[in-house]
Amino acid sequence: MNNKLDLIHRPRRLRRTEGIRNLVRETRLHTDNLVAPLFIVPGTNVRREVVSMPEVFQLSVDEVVRECIGLIELGIKSVILFGIPESKDAEGSSAWDSEGIIQRGIRAIRKEVPEMTIITDVCLCEYTDHGHCGLLDGEHILNDESVELYVRMAISHAEAGADMVAPSDMMDGRVAAIRDGLDAEGFEGIPIMSYAVKYASGFYGPFRDAADSTPSFGDRRSHQMDPANGREAMREALLDLEEGADILMVKPAMPNLDIINQLYQNTDVPIAAYQVSGEYAMLHAAAQKGWLDLERTMVESLTSIRRAGASIIITYFAARMGRQIQSVRIQK
Ligand code: PBG
Repeated sequence: MNNKLDLIHRPRRLRRTEGIRNLVRETRLHTDNLVAPLFIVPGTNVRREVVSMPEVFQLSVDEVVRECIGLIELGIKSVILFGIPESKDAEGSSAWDSEGIIQRGIRAIRKEVPEMTIITDVCLCEYTDHGHCGLLDGEHILNDESVELYVRMAISHAEAGADMVAPSDMMDGRVAAIRDGLDAEGFEGIPIMSYAVKYASGFYGPFRDAADSTPSFGDRRSHQMDPANGREAMREALLDLEEGADILMVKPAMPNLDIINQLYQNTDVPIAAYQVSGEYAMLHAAAQKGWLDLERTMVESLTSIRRAGASIIITYFAARMGRQIQSVRIQK
């Protein structure tokens, strides 16, 4: 009895062996595209694991250097730095202090690990005592006055030796102002990676533990975008391009793969995506319960972000992914 279907097309032919599957694979992850976020805290010999983010640590400057050396060995050559300062005030003035936590961290990495590309997050929420991303007038976050502070902050990062600045505050007009400020100080060669499409997201929860940046009242919905809005994402992206952004970032990543792809299709600059703390924590939590395979879901999530169009992925999985890529290479 021959009950074969008379099929011309059998897509399964290209999935038959591992060799063929490798041959036709469209998307690959490379450590060159991964950026590791690092949290710098005061002190020495501090390496404190963030409760809600396994394998992510708050690190003192000396430990950050050690971490960077380890990352380079894994092939991870870019980091994005966040600072948790000694003291906070209403303006967040330690954010642009040349002896501030980030500035010291940048100088140490620059000196000890010169091959590392250093990106800095430019936002005031870790530095203000109220935890908001700007100056307050009552409960209102002032825009233009806050932008001035962001310009100072970005310049001080460049002076300390940062390779790239990444404003994540979502104030209007900050990219143009930072561009002007950097240029005026002779930093016309320092690119801006703007958090162009940053949603007011519940997925930032664990980050606020790591960076000690939970707002003391209210939330961030008056400046970060409504997750319900897709067309507005394009508007934000085009404004940032007009203002001189060199790279556009979308954040969080997995809930917004459509937006990543929209920016990829409609602009001609590199697209970055931030796989945020909550995306990382939920995979780890499920894996700890034995509900998901961490290695597999890590690769799948990062691959989907890459496939959507992000060439740069900021991810807390950077080191683990680097290790996996290295071990696969050794096995073969
Ligand atoms: C602002 C900033 C945040 C994140 C990156 N930059 C927090 C926020 O907007 O509340 C979140 C990153 C993450 O969740 O991993 N400094």
